Amino acid sequence: MKYNIYSEKVMDHFQNPRNVGVIEDPDGFGRVGNPVCGDLMEMFIKVEDDKITDIKFRTFGCGSAIATSSMVTELAIGTDLHRGLEITRGEVANELDGPPPIKMHCSNLAADALHAAIVDYLIKQDRLEEFGLSPEEAKKIVHPEDPEH
Ligand code: FES
Repeated sequence: MKYNIYSEKVMDHFQNPRNVGVIEDPDGFGRVGNPVCGDLMEMFIKVEDDKITDIKFRTFGCGSAIATSSMVTELAIGTDLHRGLEITRGEVANELDGPPPIKMHCSNLAADALHAAIVDYLIKQDRLEEFGLSPEEAKKIVHPEDPEH
């Protein structure tokens, strides 16, 4: 058994997180909490021609939350909004060669916050229907109350 339970990629993104910060006047903003530990994740996006042109995050969370957020920003930047909504919690974890299972609830915050920021943008643009989202679904994404957290 390896002593270090974190992959090298997790350690890299934890120690050198990409796209940390705040975007003033973002086009979309997502804030999700982790009910297990009470930590928070915030994601800010800029959108042009339906592409995510800039993305920043800040978190009051642990190393796994930082690493997965950093990875999600790398996956999301330059992609279009449809693709951004398709980035899953599992995909982010796979890209990092997997955080330890006990920390999965921390890594879920990153994809959830990205989705919340994109849907916030779609709500402001009145474009939910175009993306196949009902107002109820959008509300759940922007204010997730996931009992499995
Ligand atoms: Fe809170 Fe990981 S312990 S986000």
